[in-house]
Amino acid sequence: MAAKKIIVGGGTGFVGTHLNKILRARNYDVINVSRMPAAKNISWTSLDSDGLPSNTSAVVNLAGQQFMDFTKMWTPGFKQNVLNSRVFTTKSLSKAIRQCEKKPDVFVLVTGVGAYEPSESNKYDESSPSTGTDFFSRLLREWEKAAEVDAPTRLVIIRSGVVIGRNGGMIKNMILPFFFGLGGPIASGKQYLPWIHIEDLTRMIQYSIENENVKGILNGVAPQVITNAEFTKSFAKALSRPAIIPVPEFSLNLLLNEERAMMLTKGQYVVPKRVLEYGFKYKYDNINDACKEVAHLFPKE
Ligand SMILES: NC(=O)c1ccc[n+]([C@@H]2O[C@H](COP(=O)([O-])OP(=O)(O)OC[C@H]3O[C@@H](n4cnc5c(N)ncnc54)[C@H](OP(=O)(O)O)[C@@H]3O)[C@@H](O)[C@H]2O)c1
Repeated sequence: MAAKKIIVGGGTGFVGTHLNKILRARNYDVINVSRMPAAKNISWTSLDSDGLPSNTSAVVNLAGQQFMDFTKMWTPGFKQNVLNSRVFTTKSLSKAIRQCEKKPDVFVLVTGVGAYEPSESNKYDESSPSTGTDFFSRLLREWEKAAEVDAPTRLVIIRSGVVIGRNGGMIKNMILPFFFGLGGPIASGKQYLPWIHIEDLTRMIQYSIENENVKGILNGVAPQVITNAEFTKSFAKALSRPAIIPVPEFSLNLLLNEERAMMLTKGQYVVPKRVLEYGFKYKYDNINDACKEVAHLFPKE
């Protein structure tokens, strides 16, 4: 039997590279939609003109301009790019799905927990309303709205927490300062830090593809709720380093702009209620185990 075809928007990035690896190991034929040409890539322009490759069984979108890029100023133009790169790619994929004669079984979109208003007292599961009050929650609304598909294609939206993996995201940014003993809690350290290990996020995407009953919003977070201070302690311990130099909120506001810095200085208490109800089993449900897995200076591959 021919391998099932999966199309991954932004499949060349941090999460996408790992997803490609686990899907290919399971014998799927993975094609990335990318701005860069490569043997297993198609372009966004060809997706718009030619539609989805024939016999596509699943579509995933991971595309988006990285907003925690410290080399980029938080200008109106950059903010627009952060939004457009998510909303337009999601619209292109959902339109291609809608126009397909033989529709794929599932469309999985990975967004973020920024859908929920940062708070030290509210507790959120997948039934909690998204507020749309700050830049990120407004972006989330538009982004998720762009993922409109009809039956028989199932729509799964995974609202991911901070992804813990050695090769990208927060850990890649933090490993050097922590390794040299210059790490510490951010702001008060009391803000919640919704997190998920990259292995679990990519397995959750695979689970969503393979289980016909899975649909709707899933909180892509580990069941263990932690604060930034707890993460700091755990990561420093895994590296056998002290982490006592706090990063003051005002310095991040100055460096990154307050609107963007809130992704670090504020947080949400988020639980994966529906994920657990579906019976998904986490490989890393504990931050100490997740930190141990990524606490090595040189990437393993
Ligand atoms: N990493 C995290 O901690 C985290 C947490 C929550 C949510 N998420 C979300 O999960 C998704 C994947 O995250 P990631 O960490 O894997 O991101 P990433 O490493 O930055 O990769 C995203 C991919 O998006 C594509 N891309 C970048 N800028 C683009 C643009 N302007 N227009 C079109 N495509 C663009 C790139 O692919 P090409 O260069 O091949 O075009 C890139 O490989 C993102 O939407 C992110 O917001 C990530």
